[in-house]
Amino acid sequence: NMGCPVPKVVKSGEGAALLKNLPLAAEIIRKVVASVTIPVTVKFRLGWDSNQIVAPELARIAEEQGASGVTLHARTREQYYQGKAQWDYVAEVKRKVSITVIGNGDVDSPEAAEAMMKETGCDGIMIGQAALGRPWLFGQVAHYLENGTKLPDPSIRQKFELIEKHLQLQLQYSGEHRGLLEMRKHLSWYLKGMPGAAKLRDKINTLTTVESLEKVLREYESSVFEIEEQL
Ligand SMILES: Cc1cc2nc3c(=O)[nH]c(=O)nc-3n(C[C@H](O)[C@H](O)[C@H](O)COP(=O)(O)O)c2cc1C
Repeated sequence: NMGCPVPKVVKSGEGAALLKNLPLAAEIIRKVVASVTIPVTVKFRLGWDSNQIVAPELARIAEEQGASGVTLHARTREQYYQGKAQWDYVAEVKRKVSITVIGNGDVDSPEAAEAMMKETGCDGIMIGQAALGRPWLFGQVAHYLENGTKLPDPSIRQKFELIEKHLQLQLQYSGEHRGLLEMRKHLSWYLKGMPGAAKLRDKINTLTTVESLEKVLREYESSVFEIEEQL
């Protein structure tokens, strides 16, 4: 991952800081490829800032050093997660290398996924922010690319079934304490746009046990169903 913009990561020369040190990036890719038997892919951004665009060059380096593919997040480090992703560079990278190219940045709908693939010729797409609280987006995108038709969003009831499943998996994966904290973020994304979401989020952020969280979610769920049924 040569795209991470976080200060504590770039401060030590890692993540997106490697965009300013291509010889080191090349050495890392070469050594990783030599050390493992699985395909190696490299994810990076356009460059450190708009005056230092290196993505096409780094893609070539990755190919030369034996990487199987690259993912380009079409923003600079300076852009962080803001501003428009510049898909033209995904197209340029695709023209420059023959390994797999995955385009990333601003894909937030099935139509945007199709546009990214058509406009850039990339082999695949990666979705970040738009999938937060909307994990069904991947299925919708895949369905649209295969069939050209759109799947509806899940109903509120289906969303809550999914939230419950996510909660259980998160607890299994991260343990109770960390799982609960991590779930707060996901819940605020899931609940966005639902009635009374802000108030509910504040309440959820004070809860410290799984039981209390499940109780609050159940109560909210049934109140939302009532509203839905009245409509
Ligand atoms: C909360 C969050 C966590 C992320 N964590 C990672 C990560 O661990 N590794 C990584 O390569 N990219 C990470 N990214 C970046 C995304 O993979 C993606 O490159 C970026 O969000 C741009 O795509 P988007 O416009 O679809 O959001 C993260 C993004 C967000 C919003």
